[in-house]
Amino acid sequence: MTTTPDRSGRPAELDLAPDLSTLTTRLPGQDSASPGIRRRPVRSLLADCFPALSSGQADAVTVTYGDLLVRWYPDNATYQPNLDAFRFVNAVSDLVPPKARVLDVGTGTGVLGLGIATGADVRRLCLLDYNPAALRQAQANSRTFTERNPDVVVRLVQGRFHPDLLPRLGEHDVLISNPPYFPPGLLRGAEGRTRLTDDFGLTAALITHGPVFAPNVYFMYSSAAEPEVADLLRHRPAGSRVTTVATWRAPFPSHLLTPSGRRRFSRNGPDDQWDAWHDVKVLRIEAGA
Ligand SMILES: C[S@@+](CC[C@H](N)C(=O)[O-])C[C@H]1O[C@@H](n2cnc3c(N)ncnc32)[C@H](O)[C@@H]1O
Repeated sequence: MTTTPDRSGRPAELDLAPDLSTLTTRLPGQDSASPGIRRRPVRSLLADCFPALSSGQADAVTVTYGDLLVRWYPDNATYQPNLDAFRFVNAVSDLVPPKARVLDVGTGTGVLGLGIATGADVRRLCLLDYNPAALRQAQANSRTFTERNPDVVVRLVQGRFHPDLLPRLGEHDVLISNPPYFPPGLLRGAEGRTRLTDDFGLTAALITHGPVFAPNVYFMYSSAAEPEVADLLRHRPAGSRVTTVATWRAPFPSHLLTPSGRRRFSRNGPDDQWDAWHDVKVLRIEAGA
C-alpha cells in the first residue's frame, strides 16, 4: 500500500492536446526552456516517460489535458492513465445530459470521471473502486479538480461493484467504466494479470447490473474479448438497447500476451514497434423503459 500521494515529487509532465493529436513530455531535470519530447501522431501516452520512471529520475506522471490535471504514482496497484481513457472521455463527454449525476466504476486515478466532469455539465460525480490505493490517488486528483470546479460535488466510495451498493451509491444518470479488458488466459506475467485481467467479473457486473444504477451505461472493451463480451451481452436486462458509440484501433505490448492471447490480436507489419493491435470499443447500454 502507498501513503497518500501528495503533490510534491519529481513528476514527468505530459501535455496532451484536447484533440489528442499531439503529446509533449517533459522529464524532471530538463531545462525549462527545452521543448520536451513531442509526438504527433500520439501512439502511447507513457512510452516516453517509462525509462525515467524505471530509473527513478521521475516518481510520478502528471497529465494535463485541457483543464483536466491527473497525476499518477506508479504503485503496482493503480492503473496508469492511458490514451484509451482520454479517447473515452472525448467520445462520451458530448453524450452526457445537462446537470448529470455520473458514477465512475473502477475509477483508478479518477481519469474518466474527472475528465468527463471537466468536459460536460456534471452536477455530482461518484468515484468507486475496490482498491484503496487507487482510491487514494483518485482522491488526490479530485482535490485538484474541486479547486478548479467548486460547483461539482465529488464523492469517493470504496467497494466492489454490486447491486448491494445501490443504497450507498444512489441512482445516477450516467454510469461510465473502463473495466480490465481481458478474460483470464490471454496475458502472461503478474503485470498483465493484476492490472488488465477482469478477475472480479466487472464487465459482467456492468452489463447485468449497470442499468439498475443508471439509464445510460458506457464502458470500453477490447476486440480481443469480443466472444466473451458478446456472450455476456445476451444476459443484459430485458428491454435494454446496446449501441457502439466509438471505436478505435490501438497498439498493445505483445510481450504481455500468451500465445493464445496473441491469436486474438492482429499484426501491423514487421517494422512496426507495436506488433499487436486490437480495436477498442465504447458500448452504450440504454436501460429499457
Ligand atoms: C483498467 S482499470 C481502469 C482505471 C481507470 N478507470 C482508467 O481508465 O484509467 C480498472 C479499475 O477497476 C477496478 N475494479 C476492477 N474490478 C472492480 C469491481 N468489481 N468493483 C470496483 N472496482 C473494480 C480496479 O481496481 C481498477 O482500478
